[in-house]
Amino acid sequence: MRSIEHIYINGKFVVPHGEDRLDLINPATEERIGDVRLGNENDVRAAVAAAKRALPALAGSTKAERIDMLHSLRDAIAANPDELIQTMTEEYGAPSYFTAFSVQNTASVFDVMAETVAEYEFDRVVGKSAVRMLPRGVLAAITPWNSNFGFIATKLAHAIGSGSPLVIKPAEQSALQTEVLAKRLYQAGLPAGVLNIVNGTGPVVGAALTSDPDVATISFTGSTQAAKIIQRAAIDGMKRVILELGGKAPTIIMPDAELDKAIPVALMSGFANSGQACVAGTRILAPRSRMAEISERLKVEAEKLKVGAPRDAEVRIGPMASRAQWERIQMYIRLGIEEGATLLTGGTGRPAGLDRGWFARPTIFVDVHSNMRIAREEIFGPVLCLIAYDDEDEAVEIANNSEYGLQAYVLGADQKRAVQIAERLLVGRVVVNGAPHDPRAPFGGFKQSGIGREIGAFGLDGLLEPRAILTA
Ligand code: NAI
Ligand code: MG
Repeated sequence: MRSIEHIYINGKFVVPHGEDRLDLINPATEERIGDVRLGNENDVRAAVAAAKRALPALAGSTKAERIDMLHSLRDAIAANPDELIQTMTEEYGAPSYFTAFSVQNTASVFDVMAETVAEYEFDRVVGKSAVRMLPRGVLAAITPWNSNFGFIATKLAHAIGSGSPLVIKPAEQSALQTEVLAKRLYQAGLPAGVLNIVNGTGPVVGAALTSDPDVATISFTGSTQAAKIIQRAAIDGMKRVILELGGKAPTIIMPDAELDKAIPVALMSGFANSGQACVAGTRILAPRSRMAEISERLKVEAEKLKVGAPRDAEVRIGPMASRAQWERIQMYIRLGIEEGATLLTGGTGRPAGLDRGWFARPTIFVDVHSNMRIAREEIFGPVLCLIAYDDEDEAVEIANNSEYGLQAYVLGADQKRAVQIAERLLVGRVVVNGAPHDPRAPFGGFKQSGIGREIGAFGLDGLLEPRAILTA
């Protein structure tokens, strides 16, 4: 049992003005493992004021100074990954393969940003004018619970890289993770006010941040629904919003795909992070001529995936992060049945042998039409739809027939052909044939998946504005 009593403002851990508390729950056991004292509007005001005071010095920092800060942050994270992994396991419940990746990625985003800063042209000559890329001002970030460390690190790396002091409101249900991470970030010795962390709910702390007149840019990762509230709140202050939102990624299995390779990739893309991933490949598109074979292989392989407690190294799918998420998944599985889709595997309730914890059954629906809600809406759990297509044009049409446009996957023996299909998809990223994670590729979506991009030079562009000096 741990009580989180502090937030981080102006280089110090301080007691928030807010007095509300939220229980923190281990999703694999449903046990209460702690609680957090939440901040309020006064804490946001103090945090933004601290960030504003830090702006001139950070905005004026050199590339070398920013790179030093980024390296110190990386080192502070990389020093003892186990503590971070343990806390993520306990409070979020992700399987060990994912926690290990996530913590390693949390350190490496600072490295990637250091490389970006080294290469980025902050000073340019455009026409006859001297152009300098300046930070827009204080950056506010709001992040979700499905990869708490990674999202905080990514927002902070962009803040430092661009010279914008940061006030961040992480997901309130991830407060134990935020606390262990904050203690590490503190060790990096950033100047006071450059990083401020305020725990709190969306409607209180999130709303205060998004309407604060001294915030210039908002970087949000989370639901499309919350993003719309945030974007409306940003209008009066003329804030720029960078939004990384939901997805309904298609996985196109090409007619020539080798199923020994394609099926495991399709399943791991779909069930990545226990299905709680904006990039999850939740619509599997298969050629009608091979439907019988593909559905049989998906069923057999999906039923081999172990669901269970996150510390078990064999486990591929952990619990849903919360009761609310588990209930949402159940609602969508019932909905799919009502809409007339057929369960290939899975269904409602918990998997056999698991009677506690927010475990859902890995579920695949067949006989799915693109107009069903289960094929259109982001479910955010281990629930996949298998959809038939007749030819490649139809595969592309179904893939693009989505309100979302974050990510897609293409699997085929002929790599050139697969890339040609990838080029027809309106999404921020297409992963061809299970390509490994590229930490430098831009990230973000089209349509309801968001606005703007993170990572690398594209990520910095969103936080900067050019100032041109014209001389006679
Ligand atoms: P959410 O979008 O409500 O929460 C994400 C963050 O936004 C949290 O820090 C939350 O406190 C904050 N927030 C919520 N309302 C806000 C407001 N009015 N103003 C400012 N900040 C606000 O996501 P939630 O409710 O936890 O999950 C619901 C669904 O959203 C999921 O099932 C999934 O479909 C989607 N989602 C997508 C994510 C992604 O990675 N793109 C991450 C989390 C959720
Ligand atoms: Mg919400």
